[in-house]
Amino acid sequence: MGLSPSTSGPGVSPVSSKAWTIRPAGPGDERILAKLGPETFQEAFGDAFPRSFIQERMALAYAPDRLALDLADLRQAWFLAESGAEAVGFLSLAEGTPPGCVVEPGPLELSRLYVRGAWQGRGPAFALMEAGLGEARRRRAGSLWLQAWERNPRALAFYRAHGFREAGRVIVRFGGEELPHLVLVRRLPGGAGVDAAEGPA
Ligand SMILES: CC(C)(COP(=O)(O)OP(=O)(O)OC[C@H]1O[C@@H](n2cnc3c(N)ncnc32)[C@H](O)[C@@H]1OP(=O)(O)O)[C@@H](O)C(=O)NCCC(=O)NCCS
Repeated sequence: MGLSPSTSGPGVSPVSSKAWTIRPAGPGDERILAKLGPETFQEAFGDAFPRSFIQERMALAYAPDRLALDLADLRQAWFLAESGAEAVGFLSLAEGTPPGCVVEPGPLELSRLYVRGAWQGRGPAFALMEAGLGEARRRRAGSLWLQAWERNPRALAFYRAHGFREAGRVIVRFGGEELPHLVLVRRLPGGAGVDAAEGPA
């Protein structure tokens, strides 16, 4: 995984560097995310789906009033990576019911992780993940789970490098298609109902 020049070696948490910083997002950040969310999605999946469909779906998912509710929702947590005035990536967590294949205790969903293409491989994704893991531990979650499209090899490689393991598969309907997604889980020793002696999964 690519790290920013200011970080070195495993276990180092690049929560800030000269190039970018990570901060929690909350009420007031609607405008930033209403732009960043659709732009990063278009960049990531624009080749796979009609532009008009993506625009329509993103307009719903990142509508400012919807974001206002999400950002104020205590069952969610959002983090932004910023380089100066530019937002370069974000991560969100959400409490909720996972698919049945997630059997680990205390599950928390990593619901979104998007980094602008120009910033991929340069550390913000690593730092966002560290921030998300820190927040999950703060909430005493026993595991973090997510869904990733099977045709997203970069994301799958990234998650595997961060200790996520395949728990199952689900179908996500999007753009009139049925898209096979992998369900990935990472246990968080010391979280709810997890014996710290079990060590990392
Ligand atoms: C997923 C994402 C957050 C990862 O951040 P990143 O900065 O790209 O991650 P990194 O570069 O640290 O790690 C990516 C890994 O995939 C590898 N990789 C890159 N392209 C790849 C490809 N086409 N196939 C397989 N692996 C690939 C990289 O070598 C790296 O592996 P390494 O750590 O062993 O070197 C970022 O790519 C992103 O925002 N993608 C678009 C949005 C997205 O897909 N989000 C996830 C939705 S589930």
